Amino acid sequence: MKNIIIAIDGPAASGKSSTAKRVAQQLGYVHVDTGAMYRAIALKALRLGITADNVDAIDAMTRSTTVRLEYDQEKKLHVMLDDADVSEEIRMPDVSNAASAISAVPAVRELLVREQRAMGTAGGLVLDGRDIGTVVFPNADVKIFMVADAYERAVRRAKELEDKGIHADIYALEREIMERDKNDSTRAHSPLKKADDAFVIDTTRLTIEEQTAFILSKAKERIG
Ligand code: CDP
Repeated sequence: MKNIIIAIDGPAASGKSSTAKRVAQQLGYVHVDTGAMYRAIALKALRLGITADNVDAIDAMTRSTTVRLEYDQEKKLHVMLDDADVSEEIRMPDVSNAASAISAVPAVRELLVREQRAMGTAGGLVLDGRDIGTVVFPNADVKIFMVADAYERAVRRAKELEDKGIHADIYALEREIMERDKNDSTRAHSPLKKADDAFVIDTTRLTIEEQTAFILSKAKERIG
């Protein structure tokens, strides 16, 4: 059986990570949540009080930072920043906004893209992010571009936060999501963009099972 690479890109909160996780589980593959890696770098910058416009300070910080994804016995993903588990903290809304700003800095992208490519040498990966099918793995076997209405995305993100005990205003989240999409799509380095050969899935009215099944069917065609 061939070990393929599946790239899932798309705007904020469109369902990429939860779908990628299920696809990986079904295939016995590794799920690489690349957004979590950008979030980890953003968390470090927030802790140090470094803002995205201070490119020199970010460059220096990046040189002395490690971000790794680790998987426990239950295959649960842990995001390790300088060897400390930051999986929970990186989901806070202020980290989302900081991640969008800091991910435009070339040194940050170079560090994380190198790490992501190293994970993919043997295939058997499902990666989700913004630039997977266009930059990180332009030869990925299956490429998906996942979209959904901004309001629906805000409702889903509010529910995720609610499950963690964090109350968030849906309209504020919708504005934040749209702002982040704008930043991510208009930046000079690796902007959010559909790869020419990606399948578009609009998840506004789909269930997670339906979108997972679609990707699995495409993956199985390639696996043979
Ligand atoms: O889950 P959500 O859609 O809120 O965002 P995420 O995937 O965790 O990514 C957080 C931020 O990291 C995004 O807004 C992007 O700016 C950035 N990112 C990126 O630039 N490239 C990636 N491959 C993944 C995330």
